[in-house]
Amino acid sequence: MSDKPKVFVTRIIPDKGLMQVRDFCKAEVWEDEMPPPKAILLGKVRGLDGLLCLLTDPIDAELMDAAGPQLRVISQMAVGFDNVDVAEATKRGIPVGNTPGVLTECTADFAFTLLASAARRVVEAAAYVKAGRWKTWGPMLLLGADLWEATLGVVGFGRIGQAVARRARGFNMRIVCYDVYPNEEAAAELGAEFLPLDDLLRQADFVTLHVSLTEETQHLIGPRALQLMKPSAVLINTSRGPVVDPGALYQALVNGDIAGAALDVTEPEPIPLDSPLLTLPNCLILPHIASASINSRNQMAEMAAANLLAGLRGERLPNCVNPQVYWG
Ligand code: GLV
Repeated sequence: MSDKPKVFVTRIIPDKGLMQVRDFCKAEVWEDEMPPPKAILLGKVRGLDGLLCLLTDPIDAELMDAAGPQLRVISQMAVGFDNVDVAEATKRGIPVGNTPGVLTECTADFAFTLLASAARRVVEAAAYVKAGRWKTWGPMLLLGADLWEATLGVVGFGRIGQAVARRARGFNMRIVCYDVYPNEEAAAELGAEFLPLDDLLRQADFVTLHVSLTEETQHLIGPRALQLMKPSAVLINTSRGPVVDPGALYQALVNGDIAGAALDVTEPEPIPLDSPLLTLPNCLILPHIASASINSRNQMAEMAAANLLAGLRGERLPNCVNPQVYWG
């Protein structure tokens, strides 16, 4: 019998991380494209020492019970961890790891890509060409919005929000921002101005969301927020789907309350194929790929492995979301 720690990895992750996990542990890896269904996951975690999971895995009390009291680390390969019941893990003294920092720049790149694509109707225009509709240069054809000197509203001014603001400076944008914990120093450095959320929504040409999903941010962008936005405004979401109320967004887009939206994340995920949002030419939807650069995913896998192995060795996780487990 192996005395290596027993771990389960809920999907194939880049080798940079997976090889370390396989070297140090008795690892079972779920190799399907789809996540393990909950009932199977409950069986797979039985007797585990460590779990390496993804944002598609619901990690709750039932799962921790099924794993058993020897479970000593939960390592999530993502910066967001709203799928993990962290309070429950903390109660049991289980450290939970995440992968902040290494996906900041690529997520900001992607938010800006969505912003520019939606503003200049890139996907719609490419579809127009492929459909054989391009007959001539047209003075009124596919007109969009300028980025240059537009006002960018950044909701959630943490690492990723600030990285988006840094890009906006290159477009001479006016940057307004909102955060429940305003980092005035970072704002001053980036020439950004903190505003109350309502004012930001009223003034911004582009509103980009970078908050984590909590009870407070669930449907933060609902009917009222959308009504406050300019009819010419574009909403960009690369945070978590449930931050935006999809029904309210559909109504706002159809009624012309806002001009467009670009969503890398939806509620639910994946977006159902019969979602009315998919019928709108001014709503661009991507399959949650903001951190999907080769470099970032390699680094995320390495970081998730480092958290997992540290936890298994009884060492402090390099990136721990519930450091309270080390107090006292
Ligand atoms: C991706 O959405 C992440 O939280 O890392």
